[in-house]
Amino acid sequence: MAKEIKLLDKVFELFIPNETIETAVNNVAVHLNKDLKGENPVFLCVLNGSFMFAADLLKGIDIPCEVSFVKLNSYRGTASTGEIKQLIGLNESLKSRTVVIVEDIVDSGNTIAKLTQELAALQVKKTVIATLLLKPNAYSGTIPIDYTGIEIPDEFVVGYGLDYDGFGRNLKDLYRYNL
Ligand code: IMP
Ligand code: MG
Repeated sequence: MAKEIKLLDKVFELFIPNETIETAVNNVAVHLNKDLKGENPVFLCVLNGSFMFAADLLKGIDIPCEVSFVKLNSYRGTASTGEIKQLIGLNESLKSRTVVIVEDIVDSGNTIAKLTQELAALQVKKTVIATLLLKPNAYSGTIPIDYTGIEIPDEFVVGYGLDYDGFGRNLKDLYRYNL
C-alpha cells in the first residue's frame, strides 16, 4: 500500500491499514450478533460514506436481519436555519423495529443526532449506532455511540468509504491529512 497519496490538491499519509480496519469491523460484528440476537434488526446504512464499512460489517452478521440504505441530503435553508438535512430513501416501515444506524464516522455528532431524531418520529423500537470511526474529542453529542470500530484523533481522514471532495472512497486503507 502507498505511504502517501494525492487527492485533488492535497497529500494524505497512510494512517490505518486495511488489516487493522478488518479486525475492528469483525469486532463490531461479533458484539452486534451477541447483543441483537432475536431482535431481527434493520441495518440502516448511511450513504455515501458507509458503503464499504456496511459491506464488510454485514458479511460478519449471522443473525436474521434486513439491510437498507438512506441518504441525508443537505441543502441550505433560510439564513436563520442554516444547513438543513433531510432523510431520504426510506421505503419500508421501521415502526417497532430495532434499527442499527451504520455510519462511517461520527465527528461533531450532528448527523447522528438528526438521524436518531428522525427515527424516533417513525416510532422505532430502539436505535443503536454502529460507526467505523469516532472522533471522541470532536463529539459533542449526548447520544451514546454504542459500537465504535476505531477511535481516532480530531484529524481529517479519507479512504474506506470516506472522501475528500468526493475522492478517496475507493481506498481500502485509511489515510490522514497532515497540516
Ligand atoms: P458529524 O455530523 O459532524 O458527526 O459528521 C459526520 C459526517 O461528516 C460524516 O458522515 C462524514 O461524511 C463527514 N466527516 C467527518 N469527519 C470526516 C473525515 O475526517 N473525513 C471525511 N469525512 C468526514
Ligand atoms: Mg457520512
